[in-house]
Amino acid sequence: MIPSHVTLVEVGPRDGLQNEAQPVSAAHKIELVHRLQAAGCREIEVTSFVSPKWVPQMADNAEVMAGIARPPGVRHSVLTPNMKGLEAALAAPREHWPDEVVVFGAATEAFSQRNINCSIAESIERFRPVVAAAHAAGLKVRAAISCALGCPYQGEVSADEVERVVLLMKGIGVDHCGVADTIGVGTPSRVQAALERALKHYPLVEVSGHFHDTYGQALANIHACLQLGVHNFDTSIAGLGGCPYAKGATGNVATEDVVFMLHGMGIHTGLDLDALVDTGGWISGVLGRPPVSRAGRALLARRGTAAAVA
Ligand code: HMG
Ligand code: MG
Repeated sequence: MIPSHVTLVEVGPRDGLQNEAQPVSAAHKIELVHRLQAAGCREIEVTSFVSPKWVPQMADNAEVMAGIARPPGVRHSVLTPNMKGLEAALAAPREHWPDEVVVFGAATEAFSQRNINCSIAESIERFRPVVAAAHAAGLKVRAAISCALGCPYQGEVSADEVERVVLLMKGIGVDHCGVADTIGVGTPSRVQAALERALKHYPLVEVSGHFHDTYGQALANIHACLQLGVHNFDTSIAGLGGCPYAKGATGNVATEDVVFMLHGMGIHTGLDLDALVDTGGWISGVLGRPPVSRAGRALLARRGTAAAVA
C-alpha cells in the first residue's frame, strides 16, 4: 500500500517566499528555481499572479517566469485566483506560460474572506472561468483547499466542510485536489479523514497533501497519507514560508526533511538530497538566517565536522 515513488511539488519559491518581509530580488528567485531544477525537482510552484497590494513579494511574477530556464520534463505552476491573474500569466509569450495553474479556495468562510476577499461560493464562481480558460490554453488546474484541518478564525474544521469544497472544485472541472493544512494543526488520523474525503471524488494520483509544520506534525501527517497510498505532497526548501493571512503559520514542511524520511523508507523521489541541502543553505544565507530544515541543518553540520576532521 505504501507507494514506492513519491512526487514532491516544490513550493518554496512561492509559498516559501511570499511571506518574506525583506525584499528578495527576482534574480535570487530565478536562481532558486534553477538550483531546485538541478537538484532534480520536476514540479515547481514558481510564483503567484495575485494583487501586488495584497502580496508585494510576488509582484515580480512576470519577470521571474520570463527569467527561468524551462528544461523539458519540469512542470512549473503559478497561483491564479481569478481571471485577472490568469490573463496576466498568459500575457507573456507562450514560452513563458506556466504548465499548470493553481486556484486556492478555503474550507471555511472566514479564511476565504481574509485570504481572497470573497465567500466560498463567490470564489468558485471566480474560479469557474479560470478553469475553463486554463484548459482551453492547454494548462492543468490544481486546487488548494486551505484550512482543511483548522482555521485561524473559525477554529475546528470538519471533514464534511472539506468534502463540500472538494465537490465544488470537482464541479467546475479542477483536475487535481490539494488538501492544505494552512496552520499546521492537523494530526495523523484527522488528516487521513480529510484526505479520504478528497479520495472519494478524485483518483489517488490527483490528490495531494500540503502541510505546514507549525506544530511539528507535518512528517507524521505525510506518513499517515502514505498509508492511504497518497504519493503527491507539497514541500518547501529549507522550510521557508507561511501564509500572510494565517498569522503564526510557519513554513511548509521542509523538502530536505521529507526527502530524508522518504529515502530512509526506500521510497524514490528522484531528488538529490545533498543538492537540496546546498540549495536550502544557499537560500537561507540569502535571507540571512539558518535553514529551518532539521535534516538540512544536521547534514550541513556533519559536513562541517567532516571538513574539520579532513
Ligand atoms: P480583490 O481586492 O477582491 O479583487 O482581490 P478586486 O477584483 O476587487 O480588485 C481589487 C484590486 O486588485 C484592483 O486593483 C485589481 O486590479 C487588483 P486597483 O483597481 O485597486 O488598483 N487585482 C489584481 N491584481 C493583480 N493580480 C490579480 C488581481 N486581482 C485583482 N490577480 C484577490 C482578490 C484574490 C486578487 C486578492 O484578495 C489577493 O490577491 N489576495 C492574495 C491571496 C494570496 O496570494 N494569498 C496567499 C496565497 S494562498 C496560500 O498561501 C495558501 C496555500 O499555500 C495553501 C495553504 O497553505 O493553505 C495555497
Ligand atoms: Mg501554504
